[in-house]
Amino acid sequence: MSATIVVGTQWGDEGKGKVIDVLSEGADVVVRYQGGNNAGHTIVVGAERFALTLIPSGVLYPNVTPVIGNGCVVDPAVLLGEMATLSERGIDPSRLRLSGNAHLIMPYHRKLDAVMERFLGRQQIGTTKRGIGPAYTDKYSRQGIRVQDLFDPKIFRSKLEVALKEKNKILTKIYNQMPMDLDPICDEYLEYADRLHEHVTDTSLLVWEAIRDGETVLFEGAQATLLDIDHGTYPFVTSSNPTAGGVGPGVGIGPTAIDRVVGVAKAYISRVGSGPFPTELDNPIGEKMVEIGGEFGTVTGRRRRCGWLDGVALRYAVRINGLTEIALTKLDVLSHFETLRVATAYDSLDHRHTEFPRQQRVLYNCHPVYDDLPGWNTDISGVTDYRDLPKQAQQYVEYVEELAGVPVTMVSVGPSRAATLVRG
Ligand code: GDP
Ligand code: IMO
Ligand code: MG
Repeated sequence: MSATIVVGTQWGDEGKGKVIDVLSEGADVVVRYQGGNNAGHTIVVGAERFALTLIPSGVLYPNVTPVIGNGCVVDPAVLLGEMATLSERGIDPSRLRLSGNAHLIMPYHRKLDAVMERFLGRQQIGTTKRGIGPAYTDKYSRQGIRVQDLFDPKIFRSKLEVALKEKNKILTKIYNQMPMDLDPICDEYLEYADRLHEHVTDTSLLVWEAIRDGETVLFEGAQATLLDIDHGTYPFVTSSNPTAGGVGPGVGIGPTAIDRVVGVAKAYISRVGSGPFPTELDNPIGEKMVEIGGEFGTVTGRRRRCGWLDGVALRYAVRINGLTEIALTKLDVLSHFETLRVATAYDSLDHRHTEFPRQQRVLYNCHPVYDDLPGWNTDISGVTDYRDLPKQAQQYVEYVEELAGVPVTMVSVGPSRAATLVRG
């Protein structure tokens, strides 16, 4: 009986999908509260691998009601495609519930995402080109089209007409693109309406009732703290609030409903796309992390940049999200390194930063101050009890715990459900 937020503490891909999957065994409702199909959450069950972009990871358990909250942006073709794929693989997605207040990703959002990135040239963000930024831009400029608009064809068409008139001006006059036609988009989306109708409900009420009735509710963060539009490394961020505070507006519940906030931290750190990265290893060590950790994007297949665990960023994530605990993932990947490093501060000119710097430029020019810890040089991927980990591996976990100031309650040593060590 609890309401738990699971949030990424780094730049994404920490293993949130796996952690949610493990916690979902005893859950009733699993809710996405922000982002869209820019997320890629991988779950390994036995010999099967599932890569979910929009549907909450809890869907794999028949006892869970998966919910897409109002704070998400939804590409209906992707959603229906993901549901169809799950069905083909024997997972019943019919329990999925979708907020009518969620905003739709439209074809012009995807187009704009691509051409705006091209326009930025070397300054590009390296987005997933799924239309996420332009869809949230329309939401906040109050030109967005919501899921509920699909169910009134006249309203939908008139909103689309207004939006498209403006978007076509931008596409043709600024970005030198062909205009888009109203009719095919309208027909395509109204067809989705029929297929989505049975899933749409008041998700805020659904979640509130679940919490009131003592059910176990998980909130599944996508992206992560350092990709947060307000608290991340702006402008190299996503366009939503993945941090724990995003759950309130993204679902429609109050902060008093939350009991636990679990921060997922990879035992090292990675980033896809552009932006500053103080502990990045642009060398054979980083290369080795990519190879051993399989650090290629789930959504775009891009190679992830890798580096040592950043304790400054981790403590920042503890503070920004009010973490009550940490789930430390991919510890097995570090088995292959002689000495492990963790950044505890950043040196910049004559100043040592022990807190995440308020001036973004520091992140580009600083030198991380490292603590060195001994590696364990032995495969730990088959370990099932924390006490059976080599002494140095336990030392690493306890060091992270000390640095973060909150307990590490879960240690992951492999992609599968079994490779999860729960600590008291
Ligand atoms: P998310 O976006 O935070 O859900 O993370 P991703 O799914 O994008 O990336 C994490 C990757 O690491 C996936 O391929 C997982 O299957 C895998 N993974 C998760 N936990 C572990 C672990 O403890 N060890 C290893 N070796 N792989 C893991
Ligand atoms: P999960 O949930 C890693 C990154 C993109 C880009 C920036 C903005 O799997 O951890 P966007 O398309 O959101 O406008 O791109 O954010 N990004 C992610 N990086 N994991 C993710 O999700 C990401 N979602 C977006 O690479 O740098
Ligand atoms: Mg991912």
